[in-house]
Amino acid sequence: KTVTYDFNVTWVTANPDGLFDRKVVGINNQWPLPTIEVDKGDQLVVNMFNGLGDKDTSIHFHGMYQNGTNNMDGPSMVTQCPVPPGSSFTYNFTVNQNGTYWYHCHTDYCYPDGYRQALIVHDTESYFHNMYDEEFVLTMSDWYHTLVEDIAPHFITLANPTGAEPIPQAFLVNDTMNTNLPVKAGKTYLIRLINVSAFVAQYFYIEDHTFKIVEIDGVYVDATEADTLYISVAQRYSILVTMKNSTEKNYPIVTVADSVLLDTIPSDLQLNHTNWLEYNSTAAHPQAVMKVDVASDLVPYDDMTLIPHDRMELLPDADLTIELSVVMANLDNGAGYAFFNNISYTKPKVPTLYTVMSSGNLSTNAEVYGDYTHPMILEHNQVVDIVLNNADTGSHPFHLHGHNFQLLHREPSYGKHFYDYEDSTDGLTFDASNHKAFPQYPSRRDTFVAPPMGNFVIRFVADNPGVWFFHCHIDWHLAQGLAMLMIEAPTQIQERMTIPDAAYDTCKAAGVSYEGN
Ligand code: C2O
Repeated sequence: KTVTYDFNVTWVTANPDGLFDRKVVGINNQWPLPTIEVDKGDQLVVNMFNGLGDKDTSIHFHGMYQNGTNNMDGPSMVTQCPVPPGSSFTYNFTVNQNGTYWYHCHTDYCYPDGYRQALIVHDTESYFHNMYDEEFVLTMSDWYHTLVEDIAPHFITLANPTGAEPIPQAFLVNDTMNTNLPVKAGKTYLIRLINVSAFVAQYFYIEDHTFKIVEIDGVYVDATEADTLYISVAQRYSILVTMKNSTEKNYPIVTVADSVLLDTIPSDLQLNHTNWLEYNSTAAHPQAVMKVDVASDLVPYDDMTLIPHDRMELLPDADLTIELSVVMANLDNGAGYAFFNNISYTKPKVPTLYTVMSSGNLSTNAEVYGDYTHPMILEHNQVVDIVLNNADTGSHPFHLHGHNFQLLHREPSYGKHFYDYEDSTDGLTFDASNHKAFPQYPSRRDTFVAPPMGNFVIRFVADNPGVWFFHCHIDWHLAQGLAMLMIEAPTQIQERMTIPDAAYDTCKAAGVSYEGN
C-alpha cells in the first residue's frame, strides 16, 4: 500500500522543558512532530513544503537503505539540492526493511531546531511479535534554547579555537521532561528507544527491571538479557520488558546524559531524568535512586556481542580497506575543524549524485568530485573495511547512509588509537588464515561509536549503488567537516537512476547548478 504524508514545514513556538519558549520547526503547525508509521513493503510518500521562510531544508530517513532510490536519501548537496523557502520536494520510496528508524532534516546542520522524529516500520512477522502485548516509542533528545542559526556564528570561529561543542540547556524524553508509560501488571511491552539528539549520548535503565534487546538499528538480534544501555546519537534499540505482577508501585525509567562529552557542565543542567513505568496512576512517582555517582560507572550492554537473528555470516576478507584517522584541529585561521585524514568535508557546488549523473565516463574518477568532498569510489559488490583510528579524546558516533555494517572490532577507550593489523593479542587480523578471530555472526548496525583515543573496524558490501554520506552524527561535528562520501558503483548509478525533473526544478529554485561539479 501507499502511505502518504503531507508535511507543511513552518516555524512554531514550543517550550518542552518548561523553561523557555523558543522557535522550533513544526510540521502542519505542530511540534512534537508526527511519527511516520509504515509496514514493510509500503510505498512511503512524503510531500514536503518548505514554509520556513528563511531557511533551506530537506529530509533524511535515517537507516533506510534507499536501494535504487539514492536520490530520495535527503542530504543536501549529496543527493539533492536544498529545498528553498516556498518550494516543495516529494520523497517517494519503497520501504524494504523492518524496525526502528527516524527522520531528520539534513541541510547543513539543522535538526537541533526540532526537525526530527521517529519512523517506525511495523512487522507482524518478527520473531518476537508474539512475545509482547503493546509497544511504546521513547525518543531521547538534547535541547538547546538557541536557534542553530544563532549558535553557528559562535561555533566554527576564532572565538572557539578548541571547537567546544555547544552545551544543551536540557534533555528531553518524548519531547518533554518526564514521561509516563501506562503499563499493566504481568504484560510485556516492546519499547523502541531512539536517541534523536544533536550531540549527547544517553545511558538508559529501568529500576528493578531487566529487559531483552531484540533489535538494534533495524537489525533483529537474538533476544539478549540486559539491564543498562548506552545509546549514542542516532542509535536505536528495541527492548522487551515484562511487568511485575503487582500494581503497588511505579518504577523509574532512567536516562542519564553522558556528561563526559560535555566540556563544561553548568550547575543548573539536569543530567538525569526520571520517567515511569506507570503501573498505578494514583501511586507515587518516585525519583530515580542513582545506581552510581557518575554515569560513566554504569556498565552498558556491549552491542558488539549481540547476534543478528538472520545469522548473516562474517563477510569475506575486504577487497578494499579505507583507513581513516579522526583529528580535531585548528585551521590556519584558528577556528576548530574536524578531519578524516587531512580532509575536512566541504560541500560541493553541485550535489554529488548529480555530478555522477552528468559526468559520463569520468564518474569513476574521484577527481571529478573535488578533494574537499573526500570522495571514495567503491566498485559494485566490493567488500569494504573501514578502519577508523580516533586520535581525538572525544567519542564519535559514525553513521553510514544506505547500509548497515558488521562490527568487527572496537578498541577500548584510551587503548591503542591505531588499529594494529598484526597484533595477535587482539586476536584480530586481516590475514585470511586468521579472520575467524572476528565474530562468526558479527553484530550489525548503522551507527557505531568510536571510543576516545581508540579505534574500530567495520565491514560492509558495496551492493547499493549510490552516493552515501559517512559522517559523525554529532551534528556539530558534521558542521566541522567530519564527513566523507562513498561513491558506490557510479556506472551502475548512471545505468539505473533517473532524476525526476522536479528534483532539478528544486535546484533552479535554490539557485544551485546541477551539472558538472
Ligand atoms: Cu541521520 Cu547523515 O544522518
